[in-house]
Amino acid sequence: MFFTPPLATLRRDGSALVILDQTELPWRLVERRLGTLEDVLEAIVALRVRGAPLIGVAAAHGLALALERDASDSALEAAIARLLATRPTAVNLRLALEAQRNVLAPLPPAERPAAAWAEAERQRRDDAARCEAIGRAGLPWIETLARRLDRPVRILTHCNAGWVATCGAGTALAPVYLARAAGIPLEVFVSETRPRNQGLITHWELTRAGVPATLIADNAAGLLIAQGEIDLVLVGADRIARNGDVANKIGTYLKALAAHAHGVPFLVAAPATTFDPACPNGAAIPIEERAAEEVLTVAGLPPGASDPVPVRLTPLPARTRNPAFDLTPARWITAILTETGAWPAPLAAANTPPPST
Ligand code: MRU
Repeated sequence: MFFTPPLATLRRDGSALVILDQTELPWRLVERRLGTLEDVLEAIVALRVRGAPLIGVAAAHGLALALERDASDSALEAAIARLLATRPTAVNLRLALEAQRNVLAPLPPAERPAAAWAEAERQRRDDAARCEAIGRAGLPWIETLARRLDRPVRILTHCNAGWVATCGAGTALAPVYLARAAGIPLEVFVSETRPRNQGLITHWELTRAGVPATLIADNAAGLLIAQGEIDLVLVGADRIARNGDVANKIGTYLKALAAHAHGVPFLVAAPATTFDPACPNGAAIPIEERAAEEVLTVAGLPPGASDPVPVRLTPLPARTRNPAFDLTPARWITAILTETGAWPAPLAAANTPPPST
């Protein structure tokens, strides 16, 4: 293991799930105890637990909590349906729940709660192992650039695809942590990722880990790419279609467009749990539209305050659009990093065996 997360993003504690509440980051480290299915549903919708792989594993634990109360066939299906409805784009959620159903449905109800906890734990460990393998798949790309350059490798990332978004070293950030551990000089440019500013979490986790990180406004990425200040773009994914099109955090598309225009390699890092063979292409991926409030407010720490507060950005009533993800076409993606290596986008799904569901 080349990187050990400084704390668990989620863990079982008796008959509860304890999560790192991501809505408190990067200001405060706050753990939150989730004792019911309703708690888990709220945590996923509110982005207390976020990041495609982590959402899946959290949902698997949420199902175990639901079955502690009622493990009948109808309760099992009702809980799966409610969890599935929380976030529509990241497919890891569906795969995690399908894996749970395959384990639980054949069992008598009395055996289901224990089996659900065991399957949730298997998924937690499995995700950590997948992150590690993705790191190894990505390392050679950074090594090659480092050999060619007489300065630190400059990597641009978007959103948060680090340890905070997974149960391990992260997806897009796993190769970064591995390269850092190997002593390769590098610097990561992090776009803030409005409206929810997941980039601030990335900047926080990289800085904590001693990785040089530079925070930029989302709109600055195009200029930096055009001026040759970025050697590699490295992002995560929330769902990958059969043809290699990728859904990822809103803003990814524009970075891919700029990288394509300027010949900068654009890598997507994702485990097999992010591939959706049922989606022929990106157009078939549902895009989550989130609340207007996210566009109309930002959260921050007023001078002297210890608690972050939301601040409204406009005094006027405003119509908004808030798509949470966008679609990057396979033809702009240099390679997809998975557990089995680096593949051209259209071939990645075929060369990454689906997780057992
Ligand atoms: O809406 P979020 O914060 O759950 O978004 C998901 C993500 O974290 C990103 O899109 C990420 O790049 C892929 S998940 C490791």
